[in-house]
Amino acid sequence: MKVASTAGASGSGSTAAPTTSSSVSREARVASHSHIKGLGLADDGTAIQSAHGFVGQKSAREACGLVLDLIRIKKFAGRALLLAGGPGTGKTALALGISHELGQKVPFCPMVGSEVYSSEVKKTEVLMENFRRAIGLRVRETKEVYEGEITELTPTETENPLSGYGKTISHVVIALKTVKGTKQLRLDPSIYESIMKERVSVGDVIYIEANTGAVKRVGRSDAYATEFDLEAEEYVPLPKGEVHKRKEVVQDVTLHDLDMANAKPQGGQDIMSVVGQLVKGRRTEITDKLRGEINKVVNKYIEQGIAELVPGVLFIDEVHMLDMECFTYLNRALESTISPHVILATNRGQSTIRGTEYDGPASSSGIVSPHGIPLDLLDRCMIVRTLPYQRDEIREVLRLRAKTEGLLVKEDALERLTEQGVKTSLRYALQLLTPASILAKLSGRDEIAVEDVEEVSTGLFMDARQSALLLK
Ligand SMILES: Nc1ncnc2c1ncn2[C@@H]1O[C@H](COP(=O)(O)OP(=O)(O)OP(=O)(O)O)[C@@H](O)[C@H]1O
Ligand SMILES: [Mg+2]
Repeated sequence: MKVASTAGASGSGSTAAPTTSSSVSREARVASHSHIKGLGLADDGTAIQSAHGFVGQKSAREACGLVLDLIRIKKFAGRALLLAGGPGTGKTALALGISHELGQKVPFCPMVGSEVYSSEVKKTEVLMENFRRAIGLRVRETKEVYEGEITELTPTETENPLSGYGKTISHVVIALKTVKGTKQLRLDPSIYESIMKERVSVGDVIYIEANTGAVKRVGRSDAYATEFDLEAEEYVPLPKGEVHKRKEVVQDVTLHDLDMANAKPQGGQDIMSVVGQLVKGRRTEITDKLRGEINKVVNKYIEQGIAELVPGVLFIDEVHMLDMECFTYLNRALESTISPHVILATNRGQSTIRGTEYDGPASSSGIVSPHGIPLDLLDRCMIVRTLPYQRDEIREVLRLRAKTEGLLVKEDALERLTEQGVKTSLRYALQLLTPASILAKLSGRDEIAVEDVEEVSTGLFMDARQSALLLK
């Protein structure tokens, strides 16, 4: 059973490892939404006017809450949620709210429609990759282990009864220490071999699987930590609990992680190198064939109950940027058996579907469809509308945002910004906050005053309408 060693390799106890490392860097682009902490719903599913950084937009939030429930009970797969509404009405914010509510355990993969256009990679390939980033696999196993820091390691040698000269190891005595106590174990010589292979020495924290005898080095006990600035060693705390215990090992990976690991096996001590052995043979590229093989192995694990599929969320922002090829691909991908939950967002109304217009003799202006999405995909979508904000809501969001950015705003200045928000858009008003604060600092004030807002909104910068009028 390969997966046994797979799961064991995490070695960090029963805590689930974070899903992907790549999704961390992808989060960088959401800084303008840092005040959004969730959807702000009450227990009965109704939206609270202002909670979790969300203000107003109640019915859309409630609808998203319902979708969230469907996702949690895994009944939303194969469908898509489409967030539609004017610019700056909180569609991206809603999707991020959903991702916060899902928590760490469920993969959330954000992408932008235009990401698919690359001169090197096929559009559908980019989509496929993101689909697989959004599907998690939880491998869970309870194992009987002996875990602790080695305080004694003595192989006992005996005369070899056959040859007369050489010596063989008859058994090994090993003492493992945890916070609770120490236990001495007499081990079979074959386990000594795996101890040698792991290059274990006194002071290391290891665990030995009771039924297989596999030895895994977790790291060096932090009692031995030295004061070097640079070091290759990983220090771990002394294990808690008894030496002999049942340990649940959970490992969360996404299908994309598996693809990557199997395409580029690097070897070494990390988890991926073990996961990388799921499919034998070395490849350097993720191909459909490799994905097929991985799916097969994954399905087998799911049937055996070792692994559990965790369909996550794929969020495609600005979905009108996709073209006809991508849409047909999406249709098919949504219907496959392992499909994530898909959330789409767009701010277009009636518009031409990309990729249907062409020049030339039989030129065509393309197919016009609601949101620039073909009707067959729209049929698979549940559409949630976001509405423009009222004055009070704009003021509230501005206040929230100022607080998150650590800015002080005078009441009349806030009023002036709200005015600007009503006249142009919420997003524009939000963007004026930081420049206004800099002006305030330049004039030696801590608080943003009306004159700062006045200066940025009329003196220094223009909103879209002013600017267009000027050019006429
Ligand atoms: N209801 C809300 N509560 C708090 N902040 C909000 C709310 N709605 C929007 N915001 C904030 O307003 C800004 C603009 O919203 P967002 O980016 O979500 O709009 P959008 O609908 O995605 O617009 P676009 O169509 O241009 O992409 C963001 O900084 C967002 O966090
Ligand atoms: Mg957006």
